[in-house]
Amino acid sequence: MKAVTIDRYGSPDVLQYRDIDTPVPQGDRVLVKVRASSVNPVDWKIRRGDLALLSGFDFPLRLGADVAGIVEAVGDRVSQFQPGDEVFGFANPINGGAYAEFVTIPESQLALKPRNIGFEAAAAAPLAGLTAMQSLLDLGQLRPGFSVLVNGASGGVGGFAVQIAKAFSATVTGVCSGTNADLVRMLGSDRVLDYTREDFTRQSDRYDIVFDAVGKRSFSECSRVLNPEGVYVSTLPSPELFAAIAQTFFFPGQKAKIVLAQPKSRDLQALAELIENDKVKPQIDRTYPLSNIIDAQSYSETGRATGKIVLTVDG
Ligand SMILES: NC(=O)c1ccc[n+]([C@@H]2O[C@H](COP(=O)([O-])OP(=O)(O)OC[C@H]3O[C@@H](n4cnc5c(N)ncnc54)[C@H](OP(=O)(O)O)[C@@H]3O)[C@@H](O)[C@H]2O)c1
Repeated sequence: MKAVTIDRYGSPDVLQYRDIDTPVPQGDRVLVKVRASSVNPVDWKIRRGDLALLSGFDFPLRLGADVAGIVEAVGDRVSQFQPGDEVFGFANPINGGAYAEFVTIPESQLALKPRNIGFEAAAAAPLAGLTAMQSLLDLGQLRPGFSVLVNGASGGVGGFAVQIAKAFSATVTGVCSGTNADLVRMLGSDRVLDYTREDFTRQSDRYDIVFDAVGKRSFSECSRVLNPEGVYVSTLPSPELFAAIAQTFFFPGQKAKIVLAQPKSRDLQALAELIENDKVKPQIDRTYPLSNIIDAQSYSETGRATGKIVLTVDG
């Protein structure tokens, strides 16, 4: 089968689209015939070697996390899925291998694909959608009527966050550059702030949740605009954030938190339900064939994508 692998860390040209053996599903793993995947920034961070402490030096590494496709075969302990099921989910980004014609993935990391969307839109949803959902619902304890600010509202994660917050009856402020204001409004933001012209951390509005989907603003900056019991959630680790998490953990009042997206089947089912009820619609910026992975990752690496970058798989 065709798959994208790397033999060393580096720039996009280390990405190789080549033939490797088709994996065989064992135990709790499901063999999925991949119809589409999508690019997440973690994919190119792994390719660059930014996460080499986790991804190691055992090459070739198979890349790719998000998957939407059709169950081809199942391991002997799989009970939830059978061949022919249309599924979506995400593999461990480290050596996950979803940039391929086939991938094996534990059944606990899959759910049935939302019925009202195609494979491309479904592949855009798992990692970014669950990051947003777990940040807002699990970490932020989102409740109807909450005031939520999403920084990076035009990106892959932020676009889901705006829609999920609205689906749970929050009042949403989306922060993006002026060129993406219409998109963020269309996603459901009640208010849109252009970060090139105004600094939300210096304004008088207060929020129950500040979700920094792009990890650009610190807890100490955002605490100025959080309510007394407000929660700041970031997608990116930093020494300052870990210090803030430790400092706020034991005391009442504002909390700093970091999300580490978990590929839980239950959350994928909840996301599928939101999509089927037209509460959430995956936003696709560009679509590339998997063979064009170099261009797809290069575009993601610009940091300017609006919504998700989808990879289609022939066959
Ligand atoms: N911890 C986790 O579990 C987890 C999970 C998923 C993602 N992440 C991380 O979360 C980050 C975001 O992921 P993503 O998929 O949403 O990325 P993305 O789609 O590539 O984000 C691109 C968007 O970021 C916006 N942006 C760039 N600079 C900004 C700024 N200073 N202020 C506000 N918006 C800005 C851009 O809008 P403009 O062009 O308008 O600036 C663009 O629309 C990545 O670093 C990723 O690795 C972490």
